[in-house]
Amino acid sequence: MSLISSALKRINPSPTIAISNKARELKATGRDIIALSAGEPDFDTPDNIKEAAIAAIRRGETKYTAVDGMPELKAAICRKFKRENGLDYKPSQVTVGTGGKQVLFNALVATVDAGDEVIIPAPYWVSYPDIVQFCGGTPVPAMTTIEDNFKLRPEVLEAAITPKTKWLIFNSPSNPSGAAYSFDELKALTDVLVKHPHVWILTDDMYEHLVYDDFKFVTPAQVEPALYDRTLTMNGVSKAYCMTGWRIGYAAGPEQLIKAIGTLQSQSTSNPSSIAQWAALEALDGPQDFIAANNKVFKERRDLVVSMLNQTKGLHCPKPEGAFYVFPSCAGTIGKTTPSGVKIATDEDFATQLLEAEGVAVVHGSAFGLGPAFRISYATATSDLEEACRRIQRFCGSLS
Ligand SMILES: Cc1ncc(COP(=O)(O)O)c(C=O)c1O
Repeated sequence: MSLISSALKRINPSPTIAISNKARELKATGRDIIALSAGEPDFDTPDNIKEAAIAAIRRGETKYTAVDGMPELKAAICRKFKRENGLDYKPSQVTVGTGGKQVLFNALVATVDAGDEVIIPAPYWVSYPDIVQFCGGTPVPAMTTIEDNFKLRPEVLEAAITPKTKWLIFNSPSNPSGAAYSFDELKALTDVLVKHPHVWILTDDMYEHLVYDDFKFVTPAQVEPALYDRTLTMNGVSKAYCMTGWRIGYAAGPEQLIKAIGTLQSQSTSNPSSIAQWAALEALDGPQDFIAANNKVFKERRDLVVSMLNQTKGLHCPKPEGAFYVFPSCAGTIGKTTPSGVKIATDEDFATQLLEAEGVAVVHGSAFGLGPAFRISYATATSDLEEACRRIQRFCGSLS
């Protein structure tokens, strides 16, 4: 009898975390490593948010709260959805979890039965298919192309839908491509979804605030109110508020689903940290101006990286609208050989050899379901990014 459950055997450790760990190990041996693999802002949590947490501790807000979020935070989340997305939710339609990842995990565990299909546009965030597989469901990748800037075409969505489809997982701006959908682009997809009333929409809006060049963020239930009753709108404070370590994510949707997520959470982690909840409340209700200041830096970095990669032999990099990732194609390097005699057959070989030769850690595109490509996170010091791109140029130039 196996110790490990069959559910667990269906999933793998996150490849992005594995690569970041490998980079850390190499660094510890004294090698000069630049890691462009982690998905978190290099900026610190703003002081007003830290102070709110400290004040909460001093007030003694150190006890259990309501399992799926304290009323004060749920009220702030309802205000956020109204103010920023034009969406009306009641506190009973809101759930708060330990990071966006837990909210997603709970939503899928609460709803996906064996044999259910979940459509996931590729390239996708690495956790989506694994969580679906953990639940016994079948992830159905819906492919995009670099020519379409990694945005899903409505006819590809239509073709992916079957009677077994339970969810579409939608993520804009996207990890790993940075692609974000305009109103018209999203409307073309919601028009398809309106025709298929059995399909639920799980929208991961984690990178909502990280958009550049006056891009206007929109979310499915806002673009198509007819989908409101079958949409779970997920978001969190990790990325925009530089709070990855605090672990607060949230979602809003139909009460029946929110209640089911709460039941699951009541039998697993219970409430997310009371202190982090008070910090998240300050993040949502407090001053927002630092977001624009951070975005100015992110935009400059995006422009720098896109420009340097597009001057690199064998690479091609679209300019994405948001998040802090770029997803260049490395098709022009496949089949070439490194000076040490190693043949690059896949994007994973590309990433491994780049780390070996130049100490730059990136994540191969096939880990996100689309290759040959790789993901660079530009949420790192501009000087390191510049040096990393120079090294990537040298590496690609050395291939023959
Ligand atoms: C697309 C996407 N969704 C969700 C998450 C999870 O966020 P959190 O750190 O709040 O769990 C991430 C984090 O990398 C992400 O990139």
